[in-house]
Amino acid sequence: MSKMFDAYVRSYSLTRENAPEFFEIVGDIYDTPEFRSMAEYIQHADITRLQHIMSVAYLSYLTAKEKGRNYVSAARAAMLHDLFYYDWHVPGDGSHRLHGYRHPRFAYNNAKKLFELTELEEDIILRHMWPLTPKPPRYPESMIVCLCDKYCANRESAIKLIPYFRNKFNSLR
Ligand SMILES: [Fe+2]
Ligand SMILES: [Fe+2]
Repeated sequence: MSKMFDAYVRSYSLTRENAPEFFEIVGDIYDTPEFRSMAEYIQHADITRLQHIMSVAYLSYLTAKEKGRNYVSAARAAMLHDLFYYDWHVPGDGSHRLHGYRHPRFAYNNAKKLFELTELEEDIILRHMWPLTPKPPRYPESMIVCLCDKYCANRESAIKLIPYFRNKFNSLR
């Protein structure tokens, strides 16, 4: 099992007790009703957007820390990277058409209403869908979150689509 996958599995059982530094960094975001509402939306398979975000934030935190980058901003901006209040699987009234392209801006606008963001954190949120959105990440931390997001989305899709992988994952968590 790779170190990354090991951390990914661990991201499903994070608590203030077993991940104190991580929660010290992101706890204020985690405690907002806006963030908690992410539990109401499915991201991939039966995995909620809250869980998806926790996985991305935790892997981004670990990776940025290991690489000697700004892990505080990486973790905090990752917590906000998918903060939008709709189910992207449901077309609805058309207000979130082209979701893949537009949701980084929605998340950025929602995040700004709740927290002060640094220029780095803004870049992390706005560029996380690259290369689908054309402007590339400007900072190494933005690239870390962008790649951790893709890694997590890929794992989530594998859990949904591949029974062998789903069983293995369920046996580990
Ligand atoms: Fe996203
Ligand atoms: Fe995401």
